[in-house]
Amino acid sequence: MKAKSSYSLDLLKDTKQELDRLQAQANMMKNLEMKLLKQAGLKPNHTVLEFGCGPGFVTPILCELANLGRVISVDNDEKLLKICSEKITHPPAQGFLTLNNSNHDSLDSLNSEIDFSYMRFVLQHIQKKQEALTQIFQSLKKNGTVCVVDSDDGLVLQFPQDNFIHLLLSEAQGLQKTRGGDRLVGRKIPSMLADLGFSKIKSQVIMFTSDDIPFEALAKLLFGFKADLVGKTNELNEWINQKLALANSTKYFLSGGIVLVTAEK
Ligand SMILES: C[S@@+](CC[C@H](N)C(=O)[O-])C[C@H]1O[C@@H](n2cnc3c(N)ncnc32)[C@H](O)[C@@H]1O
Repeated sequence: MKAKSSYSLDLLKDTKQELDRLQAQANMMKNLEMKLLKQAGLKPNHTVLEFGCGPGFVTPILCELANLGRVISVDNDEKLLKICSEKITHPPAQGFLTLNNSNHDSLDSLNSEIDFSYMRFVLQHIQKKQEALTQIFQSLKKNGTVCVVDSDDGLVLQFPQDNFIHLLLSEAQGLQKTRGGDRLVGRKIPSMLADLGFSKIKSQVIMFTSDDIPFEALAKLLFGFKADLVGKTNELNEWINQKLALANSTKYFLSGGIVLVTAEK
């Protein structure tokens, strides 16, 4: 049975918009992400576990970086796994595989086989976070690496403070919480990994402002999922149009960020 998660395309009003948002996020981050994954220790000959692959926005990047190894992409949503596997036109030398982990023991076969595991924007949606991280821990080889990337709404900074955004964040936080999610998960990743016995835990915060990413794109990345969740997509689009001129003339500041944590088994 599928474990409780606050992420489901079926629950979102505008599925295409969510897929476009995730694709834009992946495209914008591609170069930076490749650099960060290499820094985190991902090597061409690695066996990689991608936990919560979704429709595979990062999967081709993992296949490219581990081109002499193997990539196993896991999700508990069969529809997304199918879309993900269709994206892989250049599988790594040792193969590409998708796995549905809806059944509790479906990752048992990977026991201590994985060199590098990547979990990106997944933990915030999972109710049983320790269970998912334990699956990763068990799948890793001794000294294998996990890299967890997630957002944290505490990293959203704005000046002057805008009430629409302030309310949107708190509404989405509340709703995601009732579905088992956590929009403040970024800051909690290091201690969760420590509790499970991971070592050499290192964390960094990567911030983006509207100088790094055009204002409209940044606002959609930061708030698009939340607006859809609470049924305010049209209001968000109107808000973006209203704020555009102010943001472009540096009269409104907006930033957001991600927390990236690496650790070893
Ligand atoms: C926001 S999407 C992120 C997708 C992808 N990692 C990315 O960054 O583009 C979250 C994904 O986590 C998956 N997910 C949620 N709970 C899960 C669980 N317990 N096990 C596996 N996948 C899960 C969802 O089905 C969804 O595909």
